[in-house]
Amino acid sequence: MKNILITGGAGFIGSHAVRHFVKKYPDYNIINLDKLTYAGNLSNLRDVENSSNYFFIREDICNYDAVKKIFSGETLLSNKSFKNICLPVDGVINLAAETHVDRSIKDPFVFARTNVLGTLTLLQCAKETWQGNYEGHLFYQISTDEVYGALELEGGFFTETTRYDPHSPYSASKASADHFVRAFHDTYGLPVVITNCSNNYGPYQFPEKLIPLFINNIRHNKPLPVYGTGQNVRDWLYVEDHARAMDIVFHKGVPGSTYNIGGFNEWKNIDLIKVVIKTVDRILGRQEGASLKLITYVKDRAGHDLRYAIDSTKLEKGLGWRPSLQFEEGIEKTVKWYLENQEWMDNVTSGEYERYYENMYGNR
Ligand code: NAD
Ligand code: DAU
Repeated sequence: MKNILITGGAGFIGSHAVRHFVKKYPDYNIINLDKLTYAGNLSNLRDVENSSNYFFIREDICNYDAVKKIFSGETLLSNKSFKNICLPVDGVINLAAETHVDRSIKDPFVFARTNVLGTLTLLQCAKETWQGNYEGHLFYQISTDEVYGALELEGGFFTETTRYDPHSPYSASKASADHFVRAFHDTYGLPVVITNCSNNYGPYQFPEKLIPLFINNIRHNKPLPVYGTGQNVRDWLYVEDHARAMDIVFHKGVPGSTYNIGGFNEWKNIDLIKVVIKTVDRILGRQEGASLKLITYVKDRAGHDLRYAIDSTKLEKGLGWRPSLQFEEGIEKTVKWYLENQEWMDNVTSGEYERYYENMYGNR
């Protein structure tokens, strides 16, 4: 495969995936298709944006006509600044999505639109472009452990055969998208793989999510809103380990299969928050634990899933992937990155980058 379409490449995980593929595979053309919603930020890709094998197209995955032209190559071939590109698209890695559970509770419609209809649009364009000649093609859907529902505190792990049982509008939309992906495999023979990953952490995550939000609040001595009792459990994976897993699944995954991705790294929210607090305090030269006073228990998230925990044995034994980073090392790197990149954080929280890209690309 030569021409890889990565959707949502300006977001948190997508930017790590784009960077990984652009750097590791100079002979691939990596096409980043992103609508640049509030969560998309091209400055996440500064270090690769001038690479000769990297192409950015601002588009909505729900726009069938535009996506079809991107698949066939019409869009890129008509743009003189894109040289040496020979299309159509060979493989797709679909990360574009609305991703924040709290937003999905407030406004579920945009989640159904992008996550369900957007994925369906991509599937349809892949099917029509490849026209049954599926050799050398793959549609890779990036999904989440949240589609499996919630586990009890001592309730084992999610495996690839766990029944889907989504609870939030976000996870319902992701589950629906996954069903469409499997339906295209079973009905039309489209070569697909799906991975269901646990919570990612690391640089470039939008600060509405727990870890970057709390790092920023601790820095500015703002309250840390802990939902409910803080006893909910999440399973955390360093984002670059997810990008490496994507590479392995993209190249070695068996079409029609699902793989779970996780680090066997469960943390109760409140315990994780205390680690983050101590790390930020230490790096800022404050007395370790001084910021514990910022913890503020607030009303619980509606339908808050108690525990997620991924069993990634199939991926580890079958395809040889393993997380590379211990959690202590990952959290240290992550906290340092946010503290050293205050300008990125300020731009994101002030909406500065949104205005910049509005000037460049027009209104969203
Ligand atoms: P993110 O919110 O940081 O980024 C999403 C990206 O998608 C943004 O760049 C945004 O501009 C783009 N986008 C949104 N709607 C679009 C549309 N209609 N057309 C084109 N682009 C659009 O998300 P993330 O946390 O990086 O998650 C990426 C993917 O990984 C998602 O599919 C998510 O469900 C999945 N996932 C995330 C996690 C996690 O912990 N963050 C874990 C497992 C799976
Ligand atoms: O599990 C994978 C999922 O992880 C991804 O599919 C989602 O896209 C991603 O957003 C993430 O979902 P979570 O809801 O688990 O992540 P979030 O960072 O929003 O919350 C993590 C936990 O922390 C969760 O139990 C809710 C809690 N929380 C979150 C926020 C933002 C708080 O207690 N306070 C907060 O302010």
